[in-house]
Amino acid sequence: MKHTIGIPSVLPPHRGVKGYADYYVKYGQTPVPSIPVSELFVGKPFPEGEHQDHPGDYNVFRTTDVEKRAMEMANSDLYESLREAAEVQRQVRHYTHQMMKPGAKLIDVCTKLEDMNRKLVGEDGKLRGIGFPTGCSLNHVAAHYTPNNGDDTIITENDVCKIDFGTQINGRIIDCAFTVAFQEKYDPLLEASREATNAGVRAAGIDSVLGEIGGVIQEVMESYEIELDGKVYPIKPIRNLMGHSIAPYNIHGGKSVPIVKTPDRTRMEEGEVFAIETFASTGRGYIEEDMECSHYMKDFDAPHVPLRLTRSKELLRHIDNTFGTLPFCRRWLERPDGGSATVNGQNGKQTRYLGALNNLVDCGIVTAHPPLVDIKGSYTSQYEHTFILKPTRKEILSRGDDF
Ligand code: CO
Ligand code: CO
Repeated sequence: MKHTIGIPSVLPPHRGVKGYADYYVKYGQTPVPSIPVSELFVGKPFPEGEHQDHPGDYNVFRTTDVEKRAMEMANSDLYESLREAAEVQRQVRHYTHQMMKPGAKLIDVCTKLEDMNRKLVGEDGKLRGIGFPTGCSLNHVAAHYTPNNGDDTIITENDVCKIDFGTQINGRIIDCAFTVAFQEKYDPLLEASREATNAGVRAAGIDSVLGEIGGVIQEVMESYEIELDGKVYPIKPIRNLMGHSIAPYNIHGGKSVPIVKTPDRTRMEEGEVFAIETFASTGRGYIEEDMECSHYMKDFDAPHVPLRLTRSKELLRHIDNTFGTLPFCRRWLERPDGGSATVNGQNGKQTRYLGALNNLVDCGIVTAHPPLVDIKGSYTSQYEHTFILKPTRKEILSRGDDF
């Protein structure tokens, strides 16, 4: 099938990103995307991310080393999976840029975004799909907010919204986030986390020390300040939020990347995948859990607990079949397909499940991830990229012309 190549022309209607919101028409994608990304690249490699050398003199040998290059050739199937997932994430996020206007209802944005994600990746249960629920946290809420059904929150001219979503293929997750605002006064807040994330990514590489990367991020972040309604605020990193390694079907793969300087001497290693995400705040730079929970995840090391309640057993079976250890949200349980049409057809809807879900949380099988908030009245921003430490260079998989 031949796809018509177009010339990108649509600019994003919000601040915080650059580039064309319909960049993908140059690959033959339709203006409102409708073609699975795999069909756009039949017989062709998927687009590569941005390549950067591993920092440090001790890594200079890598770019030309014969053995390292051979190892990289042997891994090309893995890189192709990651690049396809990244291209899906990128196309879905550019489509999302076009939707982010004052007056948009967040639950509609999330549903359209997620349906597009399913379509472009070719949803296939745990083999291909959404990486985790769509975060659209507003203002002092930094992370882990997505609307539950019945929540009719609308984004307004005055809001600062963090869109954080992912795509996965064979459990390889691309985790990437940006911030949306409409008023110029918020630009320093957005720029602080965008530049801090870029600085953190530049400082990352094989043998980089996690606590030192945190120091680099903190220094960039704290070089910004913001004036809001006549008052000047220092911009602070949110010190108890972190980036993370990503393992197959495990969004938090075991290592954390702090966004302030810490004594952690753990190093990054060859082959690892990381998401560096930084959060800037006009508040106290410290979050706690608050508000109604939407995000849940089966624990990767969940214990085998004998469940007494039939409803809990049934819900756990549904979670195992549909999501495995990937995060999910309440909205997905309440869809006719229960989160995956491939797995459940249109007979997957969970009803009156909240008691069972809470029971699974109490048993330590499922973890609840409630919204994470700074102080009321503050504003927070976030940018995040996923990269892989290949033997010769690192590849920033989720890089786009938008950020
Ligand atoms: Co992340
Ligand atoms: Co994220």
